[in-house]
Amino acid sequence: MFRALVLQENQNRVTASIEELSETRLPDGDVDIAVEYSSLNYKDGMILKGLGRLVHQYPHVPGADLAGTVMESRSRLFHPGDRVVLTGWRVGELHWGGYAQKARVKSEWLLPLPESLTTKQSMAIGTAGIAAMLAVMALEDHGLTPGKGEVLVTGATGGVGSIAVLLLAARGYSVVAVTGRPELHGYLKSLGATTILDRQELSQPSSKPLESERWVGCVDAVGGTMLARALAQMHYGSSVAAVGLAGGNKLETTVLPFLLRGVNLLGIDSTQCPVARRKQVWSRLANELPLEKLDALTTVVRLAELPRLADEILLGRVRGRVVVDVSA
Ligand SMILES: NC(=O)c1ccc[n+]([C@@H]2O[C@H](COP(=O)([O-])OP(=O)(O)OC[C@H]3O[C@@H](n4cnc5c(N)ncnc54)[C@H](OP(=O)(O)O)[C@@H]3O)[C@@H](O)[C@H]2O)c1
Repeated sequence: MFRALVLQENQNRVTASIEELSETRLPDGDVDIAVEYSSLNYKDGMILKGLGRLVHQYPHVPGADLAGTVMESRSRLFHPGDRVVLTGWRVGELHWGGYAQKARVKSEWLLPLPESLTTKQSMAIGTAGIAAMLAVMALEDHGLTPGKGEVLVTGATGGVGSIAVLLLAARGYSVVAVTGRPELHGYLKSLGATTILDRQELSQPSSKPLESERWVGCVDAVGGTMLARALAQMHYGSSVAAVGLAGGNKLETTVLPFLLRGVNLLGIDSTQCPVARRKQVWSRLANELPLEKLDALTTVVRLAELPRLADEILLGRVRGRVVVDVSA
Protein backbone atom coordinates (compact mmCIF):
# COMPACT_ATOMS: atom_id res chain seq x y z
CA MET A 1 0.00 0.00 0.00
CA PHE A 2 1.16 3.55 -0.60
CA ARG A 3 -0.12 7.07 0.01
CA ALA A 4 -1.25 9.26 -2.86
CA LEU A 5 -3.15 12.44 -3.46
CA VAL A 6 -6.11 11.32 -5.57
CA LEU A 7 -8.40 13.56 -7.61
CA GLN A 8 -12.02 12.54 -8.18
CA GLU A 9 -14.54 14.24 -10.45
CA ASN A 10 -18.18 14.51 -9.47
CA GLN A 11 -20.71 16.61 -11.40
CA ASN A 12 -17.91 18.63 -13.05
CA ARG A 13 -16.33 19.34 -9.66
CA VAL A 14 -12.82 18.02 -8.94
CA THR A 15 -11.93 17.17 -5.34
CA ALA A 16 -8.66 15.96 -3.82
CA SER A 17 -8.06 13.56 -0.94
CA ILE A 18 -5.18 11.55 0.45
CA GLU A 19 -5.78 7.81 -0.02
CA GLU A 20 -3.96 4.54 0.69
CA LEU A 21 -3.72 2.69 -2.63
CA SER A 22 -2.63 -0.82 -3.46
CA GLU A 23 0.09 -1.36 -6.09
CA THR A 24 -2.46 -3.09 -8.32
CA ARG A 25 -3.90 0.41 -8.96
CA LEU A 26 -0.68 1.64 -10.60
CA PRO A 27 -0.96 2.33 -14.36
CA ASP A 28 1.07 0.61 -17.11
CA GLY A 29 4.80 1.18 -17.30
CA ASP A 30 8.09 -0.70 -17.16
CA VAL A 31 9.74 0.97 -14.14
CA ASP A 32 8.42 1.17 -10.56
CA ILE A 33 9.76 4.02 -8.49
CA ALA A 34 9.77 4.76 -4.78
CA VAL A 35 9.01 8.47 -5.08
CA GLU A 36 10.72 10.76 -2.56
CA TYR A 37 9.81 14.22 -3.81
CA SER A 38 7.59 15.89 -6.38
CA SER A 39 6.95 19.59 -7.03
CA LEU A 40 4.19 22.12 -7.68
CA ASN A 41 4.09 23.77 -11.10
CA TYR A 42 1.51 26.18 -12.50
CA LYS A 43 -0.01 23.36 -14.59
CA ASP A 44 -0.26 21.15 -11.48
CA GLY A 45 -2.26 23.99 -9.92
CA MET A 46 -4.67 23.93 -12.88
CA ILE A 47 -5.02 20.13 -12.67
CA LEU A 48 -5.60 20.17 -8.89
CA LYS A 49 -8.43 22.62 -9.48
CA GLY A 50 -9.85 20.74 -12.50
CA LEU A 51 -9.18 23.67 -14.86
CA GLY A 52 -8.57 23.46 -18.61
CA ARG A 53 -9.88 19.87 -18.93
CA LEU A 54 -6.29 18.66 -18.91
CA VAL A 55 -7.14 15.36 -17.18
CA HIS A 56 -9.27 12.98 -19.24
CA GLN A 57 -9.80 10.18 -16.72
CA TYR A 58 -10.53 10.12 -12.98
CA PRO A 59 -9.56 8.97 -10.36
CA HIS A 60 -6.24 10.64 -11.10
CA VAL A 61 -2.92 11.15 -9.32
CA PRO A 62 -1.41 14.50 -10.38
CA GLY A 63 2.20 15.76 -10.19
CA ALA A 64 4.16 16.58 -13.39
CA ASP A 65 7.53 15.93 -11.75
CA LEU A 66 8.97 13.19 -9.57
CA ALA A 67 12.30 11.98 -8.22
CA GLY A 68 13.17 8.84 -6.31
CA THR A 69 14.75 5.39 -6.50
CA VAL A 70 13.96 2.53 -8.87
CA MET A 71 12.30 -0.38 -7.01
CA GLU A 72 11.65 -2.71 -9.93
CA SER A 73 12.52 -2.47 -13.60
CA ARG A 74 11.44 -4.41 -16.66
CA SER A 75 13.65 -2.14 -18.80
CA ARG A 76 17.34 -2.64 -19.69
CA LEU A 77 17.90 1.06 -19.10
CA PHE A 78 17.29 1.16 -15.33
CA HIS A 79 18.00 -1.10 -12.36
CA PRO A 80 16.76 -1.31 -8.77
CA GLY A 81 18.56 1.25 -6.66
CA ASP A 82 19.09 3.77 -9.51
CA ARG A 83 18.26 7.37 -8.54
CA VAL A 84 16.02 8.84 -11.24
CA VAL A 85 14.19 12.03 -12.16
CA LEU A 86 11.17 12.62 -14.40
CA THR A 87 9.73 15.91 -15.62
CA GLY A 88 7.01 16.52 -18.20
CA TRP A 89 5.91 14.03 -20.88
CA ARG A 90 2.36 14.92 -19.70
CA VAL A 91 2.88 12.81 -16.58
CA GLY A 92 0.47 13.95 -13.88
CA GLU A 93 -1.92 14.92 -16.67
CA LEU A 94 -2.55 12.00 -19.07
CA HIS A 95 -0.64 9.55 -16.86
CA TRP A 96 -0.54 9.20 -13.06
CA GLY A 97 2.13 11.46 -11.62
CA GLY A 98 4.36 12.23 -8.68
CA TYR A 99 1.95 13.07 -5.83
CA ALA A 100 2.30 9.53 -4.48
CA GLN A 101 4.86 7.38 -2.70
CA LYS A 102 4.99 5.02 -5.69
CA ALA A 103 4.87 5.55 -9.45
CA ARG A 104 4.95 3.22 -12.44
CA VAL A 105 6.19 4.97 -15.58
CA LYS A 106 7.76 4.39 -18.98
CA SER A 107 11.54 4.06 -18.89
CA GLU A 108 11.93 6.48 -21.82
CA TRP A 109 10.55 9.29 -19.61
CA LEU A 110 13.24 8.77 -16.96
CA LEU A 111 16.71 10.23 -16.65
CA PRO A 112 19.43 9.31 -14.18
CA LEU A 113 19.64 11.93 -11.44
CA PRO A 114 22.84 13.99 -11.85
CA GLU A 115 25.41 12.87 -9.22
CA SER A 116 25.75 16.29 -7.62
CA LEU A 117 22.03 16.76 -6.97
CA THR A 118 19.78 15.31 -4.28
CA THR A 119 16.28 14.13 -5.21
CA LYS A 120 14.97 17.16 -3.30
CA GLN A 121 17.16 19.59 -5.26
CA SER A 122 16.10 17.99 -8.54
CA MET A 123 12.48 18.73 -7.62
CA ALA A 124 13.37 22.28 -6.58
CA ILE A 125 14.41 22.54 -10.23
CA GLY A 126 11.53 20.48 -11.71
CA THR A 127 9.61 21.47 -14.82
CA ALA A 128 9.92 25.19 -14.02
CA GLY A 129 13.70 24.96 -13.75
CA ILE A 130 13.99 22.89 -16.93
CA ALA A 131 11.95 25.53 -18.77
CA ALA A 132 14.11 28.34 -17.35
CA MET A 133 17.30 26.58 -18.50
CA LEU A 134 15.81 25.80 -21.93
CA ALA A 135 15.03 29.52 -22.23
CA VAL A 136 18.59 30.56 -21.31
CA MET A 137 20.02 28.00 -23.76
CA ALA A 138 17.70 29.18 -26.56
CA LEU A 139 18.72 32.81 -25.98
CA GLU A 140 22.41 31.87 -25.98
CA ASP A 141 21.97 29.73 -29.12
CA HIS A 142 20.68 32.94 -30.72
CA GLY A 143 23.69 35.03 -29.74
CA LEU A 144 23.12 36.22 -26.17
CA THR A 145 26.34 36.58 -24.18
CA PRO A 146 27.05 38.34 -20.86
CA GLY A 147 28.17 41.97 -21.03
CA LYS A 148 25.93 43.03 -23.94
CA GLY A 149 23.28 44.76 -21.81
CA GLU A 150 20.27 44.00 -19.62
CA VAL A 151 18.22 40.77 -19.76
CA LEU A 152 14.55 41.03 -18.74
CA VAL A 153 12.86 38.29 -16.67
CA THR A 154 9.07 38.56 -16.21
CA GLY A 155 7.04 36.84 -13.48
CA ALA A 156 10.35 36.96 -11.65
CA THR A 157 9.33 35.78 -8.17
CA GLY A 158 7.55 32.66 -9.54
CA GLY A 159 9.16 29.28 -10.18
CA VAL A 160 10.34 29.83 -13.77
CA GLY A 161 11.26 33.46 -13.06
CA SER A 162 13.25 32.76 -9.88
CA ILE A 163 15.35 30.06 -11.50
CA ALA A 164 15.86 32.16 -14.64
CA VAL A 165 17.09 35.09 -12.51
CA LEU A 166 19.40 32.78 -10.57
CA LEU A 167 20.83 31.10 -13.69
CA LEU A 168 21.35 34.32 -15.63
CA ALA A 169 22.94 36.13 -12.68
CA ALA A 170 25.24 33.17 -12.01
CA ARG A 171 26.42 33.35 -15.65
CA GLY A 172 27.26 37.03 -15.30
CA TYR A 173 24.25 38.61 -16.99
CA SER A 174 22.80 41.89 -15.80
CA VAL A 175 19.23 40.87 -14.87
CA VAL A 176 16.19 43.15 -14.69
CA ALA A 177 13.45 41.32 -12.78
CA VAL A 178 9.79 42.30 -13.31
CA THR A 179 7.51 41.69 -10.34
CA GLY A 180 4.13 42.76 -8.99
CA ARG A 181 5.29 42.09 -5.42
CA PRO A 182 7.27 44.98 -3.88
CA GLU A 183 7.75 42.96 -0.67
CA LEU A 184 9.92 40.49 -2.63
CA HIS A 185 12.45 42.98 -4.04
CA GLY A 186 15.01 41.83 -1.45
CA TYR A 187 14.38 38.19 -2.44
CA LEU A 188 15.03 38.98 -6.11
CA LYS A 189 18.23 40.90 -5.25
CA SER A 190 19.39 37.89 -3.22
CA LEU A 191 19.00 35.72 -6.35
CA GLY A 192 21.21 38.16 -8.26
CA ALA A 193 18.81 40.60 -9.98
CA THR A 194 20.57 43.90 -10.58
CA THR A 195 17.42 45.98 -11.12
CA ILE A 196 13.75 45.47 -10.21
CA LEU A 197 10.96 46.76 -12.43
CA ASP A 198 7.41 47.15 -11.16
CA ARG A 199 4.91 45.02 -13.09
CA GLN A 200 2.79 48.15 -13.70
CA GLU A 201 5.46 49.50 -16.05
CA LEU A 202 4.76 46.71 -18.56
CA SER A 203 1.16 45.75 -17.82
CA GLN A 204 -0.63 48.31 -20.02
CA PRO A 205 -0.60 48.16 -23.84
CA SER A 206 1.54 50.81 -25.54
CA SER A 207 0.21 52.97 -28.37
CA LYS A 208 3.60 52.61 -30.11
CA PRO A 209 4.48 49.43 -32.05
CA LEU A 210 8.17 50.04 -31.27
CA GLU A 211 9.51 51.58 -28.07
CA SER A 212 13.06 52.52 -27.03
CA GLU A 213 15.44 49.54 -27.24
CA ARG A 214 16.10 48.35 -23.69
CA TRP A 215 16.71 44.59 -23.46
CA VAL A 216 19.30 42.29 -25.05
CA GLY A 217 17.31 39.20 -24.06
CA CYS A 218 14.09 38.25 -22.28
CA VAL A 219 12.75 35.21 -20.43
CA ASP A 220 8.98 35.68 -20.34
CA ALA A 221 6.83 33.65 -17.93
CA VAL A 222 3.79 35.95 -18.23
CA GLY A 223 2.68 36.27 -21.88
CA GLY A 224 -0.17 38.64 -22.84
CA THR A 225 0.46 42.38 -22.74
CA MET A 226 3.77 41.98 -20.94
CA LEU A 227 5.19 39.86 -23.76
CA ALA A 228 3.91 42.38 -26.33
CA ARG A 229 5.58 45.25 -24.44
CA ALA A 230 8.84 43.31 -24.10
CA LEU A 231 8.89 42.56 -27.86
CA ALA A 232 8.53 46.27 -28.63
CA GLN A 233 11.47 47.11 -26.31
CA MET A 234 14.01 44.55 -27.55
CA HIS A 235 17.38 45.60 -28.97
CA TYR A 236 18.10 45.02 -32.64
CA GLY A 237 18.76 41.29 -33.37
CA SER A 238 17.92 40.12 -29.85
CA SER A 239 15.58 37.32 -28.71
CA VAL A 240 12.68 36.68 -26.36
CA ALA A 241 12.08 33.19 -24.94
CA ALA A 242 8.30 32.71 -24.50
CA VAL A 243 7.88 30.29 -21.59
CA GLY A 244 4.59 31.03 -19.85
CA LEU A 245 1.12 32.47 -19.75
CA ALA A 246 0.68 33.48 -16.09
CA GLY A 247 -0.72 36.81 -17.32
CA GLY A 248 -2.69 35.50 -20.32
CA ASN A 249 -2.39 33.39 -23.46
CA LYS A 250 -3.29 36.11 -25.98
CA LEU A 251 -0.58 38.04 -27.79
CA GLU A 252 -1.52 41.33 -29.43
CA THR A 253 1.47 42.80 -31.17
CA THR A 254 2.61 44.00 -34.59
CA VAL A 255 5.19 42.38 -36.83
CA LEU A 256 7.41 45.48 -36.61
CA PRO A 257 9.81 44.18 -33.91
CA PHE A 258 10.47 41.20 -36.19
CA LEU A 259 10.70 43.13 -39.47
CA LEU A 260 12.47 46.30 -38.39
CA ARG A 261 14.61 45.05 -35.51
CA GLY A 262 15.15 41.39 -36.43
CA VAL A 263 13.81 40.31 -33.03
CA ASN A 264 13.36 36.55 -32.53
CA LEU A 265 10.45 35.08 -30.59
CA LEU A 266 11.60 31.66 -29.35
CA GLY A 267 9.08 29.07 -28.15
CA ILE A 268 10.02 27.01 -25.10
CA ASP A 269 8.50 23.60 -24.39
CA SER A 270 9.77 21.49 -21.52
CA THR A 271 7.07 18.80 -21.79
CA GLN A 272 7.94 17.04 -25.08
CA CYS A 273 11.53 18.33 -25.23
CA PRO A 274 13.75 15.58 -26.77
CA VAL A 275 15.86 13.42 -24.45
CA ALA A 276 19.22 14.62 -25.85
CA ARG A 277 18.32 18.25 -25.07
CA ARG A 278 17.06 17.28 -21.58
CA LYS A 279 20.42 15.67 -20.84
CA GLN A 280 22.20 18.90 -21.81
CA VAL A 281 19.77 20.86 -19.64
CA TRP A 282 20.34 18.68 -16.54
CA SER A 283 24.09 18.72 -17.04
CA ARG A 284 24.15 22.52 -17.25
CA LEU A 285 21.79 22.87 -14.28
CA ALA A 286 23.95 20.55 -12.17
CA ASN A 287 27.07 22.56 -13.06
CA GLU A 288 25.75 26.11 -13.04
CA LEU A 289 22.97 26.46 -10.45
CA PRO A 290 24.23 27.84 -7.13
CA LEU A 291 22.74 25.13 -4.91
CA GLU A 292 22.66 27.12 -1.67
CA LYS A 293 20.54 29.75 -3.44
CA LEU A 294 18.35 27.04 -4.97
CA ASP A 295 17.72 25.72 -1.44
CA ALA A 296 16.84 29.26 -0.31
CA LEU A 297 14.15 29.71 -2.97
CA THR A 298 12.52 26.35 -2.13
CA THR A 299 9.64 25.63 0.26
CA VAL A 300 8.97 21.99 1.20
CA VAL A 301 5.31 21.03 1.74
CA ARG A 302 3.15 17.97 2.52
CA LEU A 303 0.70 16.30 0.12
CA ALA A 304 -2.20 17.59 2.21
CA GLU A 305 -1.15 21.23 1.58
CA LEU A 306 -1.42 20.95 -2.21
CA PRO A 307 -5.10 21.85 -2.73
CA ARG A 308 -4.56 25.15 -0.86
CA LEU A 309 -1.28 25.83 -2.67
CA ALA A 310 -2.95 25.19 -6.04
CA ASP A 311 -5.09 28.28 -5.42
CA GLU A 312 -2.00 30.24 -4.40
CA ILE A 313 0.05 29.38 -7.51
CA LEU A 314 -2.86 30.21 -9.82
CA LEU A 315 -3.17 33.60 -8.10
CA GLY A 316 0.57 34.25 -8.55
CA ARG A 317 1.17 34.18 -4.80
CA VAL A 318 3.77 31.40 -4.58
CA ARG A 319 7.38 32.51 -4.17
CA GLY A 320 10.10 30.47 -5.90
CA ARG A 321 9.68 26.71 -6.02
CA VAL A 322 7.47 24.36 -3.99
CA VAL A 323 8.85 20.85 -3.37
CA VAL A 324 6.43 18.14 -2.21
CA ASP A 325 7.64 15.58 0.34
CA VAL A 326 5.30 12.73 -0.59
CA SER A 327 5.90 10.86 2.68
CA ALA A 328 5.16 13.80 4.97
N1 LIG B 1 6.88 26.30 -21.59
C1 LIG B 1 7.11 25.41 -20.64
O1 LIG B 1 7.65 24.35 -20.87
C2 LIG B 1 6.72 25.77 -19.25
C3 LIG B 1 7.28 25.10 -18.15
C4 LIG B 1 6.94 25.53 -16.86
C5 LIG B 1 6.03 26.56 -16.70
N2 LIG B 1 5.48 27.13 -17.80
C6 LIG B 1 4.54 28.24 -17.67
O2 LIG B 1 5.26 29.35 -17.15
C7 LIG B 1 4.39 30.15 -16.37
C8 LIG B 1 5.01 30.38 -15.00
O3 LIG B 1 5.12 29.14 -14.33
P1 LIG B 1 5.62 29.13 -12.83
O4 LIG B 1 5.70 27.71 -12.41
O5 LIG B 1 6.80 30.02 -12.71
O6 LIG B 1 4.36 29.82 -12.12
P2 LIG B 1 4.37 30.78 -10.84
O7 LIG B 1 5.34 30.25 -9.86
O8 LIG B 1 2.97 31.00 -10.45
O9 LIG B 1 4.97 32.15 -11.40
C9 LIG B 1 4.25 33.01 -12.25
C10 LIG B 1 4.59 34.45 -11.87
O10 LIG B 1 4.04 35.31 -12.86
C11 LIG B 1 3.65 36.54 -12.24
N3 LIG B 1 2.23 36.76 -12.50
C12 LIG B 1 1.19 36.01 -12.07
N4 LIG B 1 0.02 36.50 -12.54
C13 LIG B 1 0.35 37.58 -13.28
C14 LIG B 1 -0.42 38.52 -14.02
N5 LIG B 1 -1.75 38.44 -14.10
N6 LIG B 1 0.24 39.50 -14.67
C15 LIG B 1 1.57 39.57 -14.62
N7 LIG B 1 2.36 38.73 -13.91
C16 LIG B 1 1.74 37.74 -13.26
C17 LIG B 1 3.93 36.40 -10.74
O11 LIG B 1 5.25 36.93 -10.54
P3 LIG B 1 5.49 38.35 -9.80
O12 LIG B 1 4.60 38.32 -8.58
O13 LIG B 1 6.94 38.35 -9.49
O14 LIG B 1 5.08 39.41 -10.76
C18 LIG B 1 4.01 34.90 -10.55
O15 LIG B 1 4.80 34.55 -9.47
C19 LIG B 1 3.05 29.42 -16.32
O16 LIG B 1 2.20 29.95 -17.29
C20 LIG B 1 3.42 27.99 -16.68
O17 LIG B 1 2.36 27.28 -17.25
C21 LIG B 1 5.79 26.76 -19.05
